[in-house]
Amino acid sequence: MSRIAYVDGRYLPHRHAGVSVEDRGYQFADGVYEVIAVACGRLVDEEPHLDRLDRSLAAVRIPWPMSRAALKLAMREVIRRNRIGGFGAIYLQITRGVAPRNHAFPAGAKPVVVMTARSLPSFDLAAARRGVAVISAPDERWHRPDIKSVSLLPNVLAKQRAVEAGAYEAWLVDDDGRITEGTASNAWIVTADGALVTRCADRSILAGITRGSLLRLATGHGTPLTERPFSLDEAKQAREAFLTSTTSWVKAVVRIDGQTIGDGCAGPLTRRLLDWYASYVDGGSAEEGL
Ligand code: PDD
Repeated sequence: MSRIAYVDGRYLPHRHAGVSVEDRGYQFADGVYEVIAVACGRLVDEEPHLDRLDRSLAAVRIPWPMSRAALKLAMREVIRRNRIGGFGAIYLQITRGVAPRNHAFPAGAKPVVVMTARSLPSFDLAAARRGVAVISAPDERWHRPDIKSVSLLPNVLAKQRAVEAGAYEAWLVDDDGRITEGTASNAWIVTADGALVTRCADRSILAGITRGSLLRLATGHGTPLTERPFSLDEAKQAREAFLTSTTSWVKAVVRIDGQTIGDGCAGPLTRRLLDWYASYVDGGSAEEGL
């Protein structure tokens, strides 16, 4: 079955789906995006994702291309046409529009919406518990990674370094030696005294939706937690470490730059958080995961 993309109001097989060579997303990375997980055909954390989309659009001054209700209907239609009954993910991108190349905003350009979706295998809990390796890399991004912009070249380059080092992700390190986040995920540690730590969602990181749901689950279960920056050294000495994202859920980090973390597999708190998140995804609300 051919995959179907939504392009500017039309549903098209991928081989016929395309945008103009003068789309500003293509020429200037002048656009924003979201990735939303699908579980049992349902969009996970749909409202927080759309709230973040709203913040990204406002930050780069792109108007909503359609009403929120219309966008939700179109997302459902993309899921239906791609027959995603189980697990999957939807990618949604909005660029400023099509116009002759000129840096300043074009007068009267109409935002272009593109959506694609794909089925994914069921989440592999055992693999998430076995964990992954990460490397560290300098954070070379612009000063607004809180905006989910399609401009991802520094993320792409750091992720490629990770892949070439046999690692799953690169944890980005700021000028003060502190970890900001991964190239496509948020970073967490559990300190020697058992506290859960993740960086505060200020302008230095993307406020991950998975991160937000996990914080609510952890708080609801009475887990002590702190939102503060932590250094690469602290992460290497941590009792546990893990990462979160829409498609990775909660994945144990068992090696950082080749150094083993904890016992080299998911620690007890990481396992509990993963279990809570898994039932949350099944149940649908942070309260149901409690
Ligand atoms: N990445 N930090 C960055 C830089 C990200 O790109 C992502 C998501 C996250 C985690 O956010 P969330 O929990 O909302 O997925 C953190 C998506 C999945 C991507 O680019 O594919």
